[in-house]
Amino acid sequence: MIDFRINKNIAIAKSIHSDFYTKKEYFELSLNKIFSNSWQFVCHKSDFNNTNIYPFTFLENTINEPMVITKSNNIACFTNVCTHRGHIINEKKCFQKKMRCGYHGRTFNLNGELNGMPGFKNVEKFPSEKDNLEKFPLLNWNDFIFTGIQPKIKIDSILDDIKTRLKNFPFDSIYYSAEYSRTYNLEANWALYCENYLEGLHVPFVHKGLNSEIDIKSYRTKILDNGVLQYTDSKDKNVYAYYYWIFPNMMFNFYDWGLSINIVEPISFNKTRIKFLSYPIKSAENISKKIDELHEVEMEDEKVVLNVQKGVQSQFYNNGRYSADYEKGTHHFHRLICNYIK
Ligand code: FES
Ligand SMILES: [Fe+2]
Repeated sequence: MIDFRINKNIAIAKSIHSDFYTKKEYFELSLNKIFSNSWQFVCHKSDFNNTNIYPFTFLENTINEPMVITKSNNIACFTNVCTHRGHIINEKKCFQKKMRCGYHGRTFNLNGELNGMPGFKNVEKFPSEKDNLEKFPLLNWNDFIFTGIQPKIKIDSILDDIKTRLKNFPFDSIYYSAEYSRTYNLEANWALYCENYLEGLHVPFVHKGLNSEIDIKSYRTKILDNGVLQYTDSKDKNVYAYYYWIFPNMMFNFYDWGLSINIVEPISFNKTRIKFLSYPIKSAENISKKIDELHEVEMEDEKVVLNVQKGVQSQFYNNGRYSADYEKGTHHFHRLICNYIK
């Protein structure tokens, strides 16, 4: 195995070896050591209007774990696999008093406990604990719900930073907008997408439109535990955006019009799905113009990331150096990857 260590001192460090992006074995390692141990954002309270059962697949195409979030007195996350023969219990979002498996009619209450089962009168020691649904950890932060299989990678310090730094952000008056949300599919490794997000060095070269709106001299990067914050002022000296990245694959971007969450989901070593979820502030205006601008920036980023995907496959490229001033975020990201996969 390649030595994936990266020097702590950015001024002498070399970036992660390109085999990380191109070899299936390292992709598998990332799934097992990083994504299986990560928190993933699932939904927002506003997704629960008229719904109390919210089935989803945890990291579809890779981890592929069927899960369900239920809302009764509290919000909880369970496996969505029936404890009888393994049928998927809930197939759609709905509002029901209990969950009923469509195969042989086993029912569960919203706390995941077995409620009833036809044809099991003469079964001994039934039901037992094992017939209840396995529960997963759940994190409810400002009505944003996260879950994980074994989420050992802590994200609290980033969420705390958002809370203290953005104390005036109107979390109570934002809502999920399907109209302004979209999904992108990219033929590139997930980590190339993230590392591009984590530096502002490329902005003047790649994003001419964005560059004309922001004061690039005010661009700052702050390293957090398992996260990075980047922020920049606009030309008129107001904060243009706070870009929070949460290891390994979540981006919370705060703007004057609301919040844009990007979830970077690996599909295979060279395929990635990026979900852009928009949460406008109820009173915000001109949102479609802002979303169009974000789309333009996204297209510009995807173009360079696709280009780099080709470059890292070259037998003549292994890694490069970091800008000590402008690539601290990328350096931190690479070090986190190396720490978790070793
Ligand atoms: S598999 Fe669910 S009741 Fe049989
Ligand atoms: Fe960019």
